[in-house]
Order: sequence, then C-alpha cells, then structure tokens
Amino acid sequence: MLLQYCTILAGLAHQIGLASAHPPRPWNHSPHRPGWTNTTKIPIQPRQENTAAYLDGSIYLLGGIINQTLPDNPLGATTTSMVQAYDIDTREWRSIASLPTAINHGNVAVVDNKLYILGGLSLQGGNWIADNNASYVYCSRTNTWRDLAPIPSQHSRGSAAVVTHGSKVYLAGGLRELDLFIGGIYDTIDTVSVYDTRTDTWDDPPAAASRLPEGRDHVAAALVDDIFYVLGGRINATTAPNGGRRDTVFALDLDDLEAGWSLKKGRMPTPRGGLSFGAVGKKVCTFGGEGNPEVESGVFNVTEVYDIDSDSWSTLRQMPLPVHGTYAAVKDGRVYIPGGGVHQNFGPTNVFQIYTPEHNRW
Ligand SMILES: *[C@@H]1O[C@H](CO)[C@@H](O)[C@H](O)[C@H]1NC(C)=O
Ligand SMILES: *[C@@H]1O[C@H](CO)[C@@H](O)[C@H](O)[C@H]1NC(C)=O
Ligand SMILES: *[C@@H]1O[C@H](CO)[C@@H](O)[C@H](O)[C@H]1NC(C)=O
Ligand SMILES: *[C@@H]1O[C@H](CO)[C@@H](O)[C@H](O)[C@H]1NC(C)=O
Ligand SMILES: *[C@@H]1O[C@H](CO)[C@@H](O)[C@H](O)[C@H]1NC(C)=O
Repeated sequence: MLLQYCTILAGLAHQIGLASAHPPRPWNHSPHRPGWTNTTKIPIQPRQENTAAYLDGSIYLLGGIINQTLPDNPLGATTTSMVQAYDIDTREWRSIASLPTAINHGNVAVVDNKLYILGGLSLQGGNWIADNNASYVYCSRTNTWRDLAPIPSQHSRGSAAVVTHGSKVYLAGGLRELDLFIGGIYDTIDTVSVYDTRTDTWDDPPAAASRLPEGRDHVAAALVDDIFYVLGGRINATTAPNGGRRDTVFALDLDDLEAGWSLKKGRMPTPRGGLSFGAVGKKVCTFGGEGNPEVESGVFNVTEVYDIDSDSWSTLRQMPLPVHGTYAAVKDGRVYIPGGGVHQNFGPTNVFQIYTPEHNRW
C-alpha cells in the first residue's frame, strides 16, 4: 500500500512539473576536451565505491566510502550511509535521508519511479562483507527509507551488474567479501538473481540463466531491447593474473531466459573493472577503471563504447580526470559520473564529470 501511495504522489509531482521548473542551461564545452564538462562538486565529502542512479530530475549518489580518519581506521576509508541528489536543472545538490546502514558497492535499481538498494557491502568484523539486511526502497514523498525483506544469503552481494526489467530487477555476479588486508578474501561470484518488486521476493532464474559464464564484479551492465549485457569487470582481483581484469561482453535475453547466457564477439579494447558505464541509445559507454599497470595512479583514463548493433567497440575522448569505483547515470543523452577514486584502492574525489557523446564522435 505504502509503495503505491508513493508512486501516485511521485507521478503527480512529475505531471505538474515540480521536477522541471527551469529549462536546462546550455553547457560550455571545452574545445580541448570535446564531450567532457564538470558540474557542481559533490558536497560535504569526496566519494568513491558509491552507487548512482537517475530518478525524477535528479542524479542520486548513494553510500560509498569517504576519507574520514578514525583512531581504529588509520587508512581513513570509512563506509558511509550518506545520500545526496543533484538536480539536473538547477545543478544544485541537496541532502537526502541517509541509508539505514552504511554500505559501499551498493546495488541500486529504479523501478516504477522508485529507488531500490538491493544489497551492498558493510563493515563487519573489520572487513567488507555482503549485508543481507541492506535492502531498502526510498519514498521521496516522505524522504524515508523503508526496509525490504532480508536478502537470502545466496543472493546477497555488492558490486553486481544490475538492470531493471518491468517490475523485476536482475542482478548478475558481484562480490560477497572484500577483506581489507593483504592476502585476505576477495570473493567474486557468478550468481544471477531476480528480485520481484511486487512481491518483495528473491529467486533464481531458470538454470540456463542462473550463472554467468564466469564470475564478475566491478562490472558494467546495460539493458537494451530486453537484453541484459554484462561488460568487462573482474574476477578474484587479488589472486588471478592481471588482477582478474576481463574484456568480455556476456548477454542474456530476459524474454528468453531458457536460451541462457552468450559470449559476444566484441572484446573491450582495455580489459578492466571498477569502470563507470551508461547506455546512450544502443551504445554502451564505459569509462575509467582500476588496475592500470602503466601509470602510478593505477587508474585507466579510457572511454570505450560498445555498439550493440555491430557487436564492436570504439574508443572516444579520454576522461580528463580518470576515475574508478563510481557509477554513472544517463539522462537525455548525457552520462553523469559523480566522484570516484583518482588513485587505485583509495583516493576519493568530489569532482563531478559529465560526458555528452554527441559533442564527441562515435
Ligand atoms: C574537471 O576537473 C578536474 C579536476 O580539477 C580536471 O582535472 C578536469 O580537467 C576538469 N574537466 C574539464 C572538462 O575541464
Ligand atoms: C541482519 O538482521 C538480523 C536480524 O535482526 C541480524 O541477526 C543480523 O545480524 C543482521 N545482519 C547484519 C549483517 O547486520
Ligand atoms: C576464482 O575463485 C574461485 C573460488 O576460489 C575459483 O573456483 C575460481 O577458479 C577462480 N577463478 C579465477 C579465474 O581465478
Ligand atoms: C591516458 O593514459 C595513458 C596511460 O594509460 C597515457 O599514456 C595517456 O597519455 C593518457 N591520456 C591523457 C589524455 O591523459
Ligand atoms: C585523507 O585526508 C587526509 C587528511 O586531510 C589527507 O592527508 C589524505 O591525503 C587523504 N587521503 C586520501 C586518499 O585522499
């Protein structure tokens, strides 16, 4: 009931135009960095390992890690419950009710104009472990988070590939545990899960679809024409060769789950995980990422685009400020990339970059 009530009011606010009172101002694009621009910095604290989503005129930034040195946490990477929203028209940030739990690597989805958090990692016993209670839906009318059913342990993880299909959310792969000491556990999974927002229940898809061809975390995801794409990412980063970085594109037709996952021909030019991504039409843009052996920062600066129709990749204008460990959200052909890490592992930034592919060449 509560869910329906929120939906109706959100729909009404949208209809009467509360979310778009001002026409967007034109952007000043630098001729030296075609396609790229910066907008208003993230307030309060730079952020990484956060998640992000578009809802109702705003880009939401949820959870993640901040640089807050505490006596028992000398490295300073503190998990946060902070949530903020950036209004696309006014270019201003506002505070949103905090998540009930501090999480990083959260799985976010928007279904029926509502924001869902469907798992993530929280600090447990000194390490980052999948939190099966971290499942919430946001009601923008009351600015509150409501608990959803706990996530069954086999479906609980952070850093999954997530897409929304009708009233269901599909999650593929992810990370069950990331220990914060050298030689600790880094537990990548290949599990595929389905969360039904109408019944608040979790399920396995049919057997053919229930496992990725190989485990993935810190991976890109897109849903285009009912096909779920899972691009790049990594597996077992602390033990596999090359940090487990991968260049694959896996695809699953959500209207034909029995057909199972397939491996596409197109291979990402630069295998990497921790990338930001967003689909603009039938092009999946991927940005940055972690594990670059060529530079001291360990961060990739590449912008690489997967064209679904031709099953091939192309390379576009590099990121002016290379980042890893943040999500992107797409609205009206622009890709919004708030924050991220400017250094491998930990180095959060408050810079908020926007990429507009139409100002660059495909
Ligand atoms: C955005 O800001 C960062 C940090 O100052 C800078 O490195 C980058 O070049 C800027 N991007 C553009 C498009 O000016
Ligand atoms: C989740 O909630 C249950 C019931 O309150 C509790 O026993 C469990 O410790 C919680 N799990 C985490 C990771 O906080
Ligand atoms: C990843 O780790 C799992 C569990 O230890 C193992 O079964 C799998 O072979 C590993 N895969 C790679 C590519 O390292
Ligand atoms: C991007 O990174 C590569 C190293 O991975 C470097 O050679 C290149 O100069 C960088 N490009 C820009 C525009 O900074
Ligand atoms: C964290 O903040 C401290 C204190 O301001 C600063 O010295 C340190 O460089 C910051 N660390 C990172 C990774 O940004």
